[in-house]
Amino acid sequence: MSDALQSAAIEILKMNDRGTYTVPTKGLYPFQWNWDSCLTALGQRHFDPLRALTEIETLFAHQWPCGMVPHIIFHARDDGYFPGPDVWDCRRPVPTSGITQPPVAGFALARLLDHAPELGARARPLVERITAWHRWFHATRDPQASGLVAIIHPWESGRDNSVDWDIPFERVPTNGIAPYTRRDTQHADPAHRPTKEQYDRYIWLVERFRSLGWQTDKLHDASPFQVVDPGFNAILIRSCLDLAALAERMGEQALAQENRAMAERGLSALPALWSEPHGQYLCLDRSTGKLIDSPSSGGLLAAFAPIPPKHVARIAATIDGHGTPFRVASHAPGNEGFDAKRYWRGPVWLVVNYMIADGLARAGARDAANAITQASLDLIHKNGFAEYYDPLTGEGLGGTQFTWTAAMVLEFLSLETV
Ligand code: DGY
Repeated sequence: MSDALQSAAIEILKMNDRGTYTVPTKGLYPFQWNWDSCLTALGQRHFDPLRALTEIETLFAHQWPCGMVPHIIFHARDDGYFPGPDVWDCRRPVPTSGITQPPVAGFALARLLDHAPELGARARPLVERITAWHRWFHATRDPQASGLVAIIHPWESGRDNSVDWDIPFERVPTNGIAPYTRRDTQHADPAHRPTKEQYDRYIWLVERFRSLGWQTDKLHDASPFQVVDPGFNAILIRSCLDLAALAERMGEQALAQENRAMAERGLSALPALWSEPHGQYLCLDRSTGKLIDSPSSGGLLAAFAPIPPKHVARIAATIDGHGTPFRVASHAPGNEGFDAKRYWRGPVWLVVNYMIADGLARAGARDAANAITQASLDLIHKNGFAEYYDPLTGEGLGGTQFTWTAAMVLEFLSLETV
């Protein structure tokens, strides 16, 4: 393991640690974010497994009674972020947002406990809580029991301004929203962030859901934006499978079976999102029933789930075919909408790299996985712990000293020495 890189990564995780939760970065993201935290725990496990478990416990302490786990927990007041707790107005004891994020907790907890089995007894209640979240997804985000769940806001995907959302976003109006001031563009270059038109639509959706009192069982049908994201579903499937294995080890047979059944439903439906011409999966616009012709990293991230071997090989080839010096671009270079510097419309993100590499390695595509690991570490060596990177030049973009980037570096370094 590269000692200097390891120490630098640990220093960032400690610097952004607020005691029981970790902020993604100072300034731009001053609260606890859902999938950031779970992936952060994977970094913390390398030097403090108990602190890693606390990170996930803190997140789940704010789970809603319906099972939903919010995408932001506003632990402390900070006016440097928009939209803050007053805009969400979710009326929770500690304010939270009212939408969710990719359910990576089951995967993260299982991986943490693989290496720290002594935390098993303490982690047991989390297995139940995470299962409740998985159950909530199937109950509220897949009302027709298709096997795949939908997101109802781009922020839920974590890939906020992906080209994937451009077409479904046309159905989201912008009229009538309350005037607002963005804060993100005061912390990061506006040219590397979502546009004002996108923000107007993000806020319209928040206001629409708020007007429905955040009744999470009503929001899917009420949303003009309902998209089935293959990456998001792959994360849910993988979390169900890994949590099932963990539950089994703990003697929780019923929870194991329930998670396995949810994973199987997802796995049997996922192939319908495959695109032979693109050599990857695509998002499904549930409102029209059509696949969205946008080759982004969400469709590559499907490899995080145990997809058919022929699809694994094609995804590895598709990533090679991007031909960028740094992989994995979040949108296919050369495809319409690609922008090497704008957030999720082209830049490389280490968390996505990590999950794709993990899935490829598990499926036996070791060379493809190693190429991603090496590209990820090269980026850090060259340009530090940024939020995301230009896939063509490797330039670091967005926030700096970024928590989950540091966490992923610790994971990549440990893979390198296996
Ligand atoms: C943001 O504010 O940029 C977030 O990604 C939304 O969670």
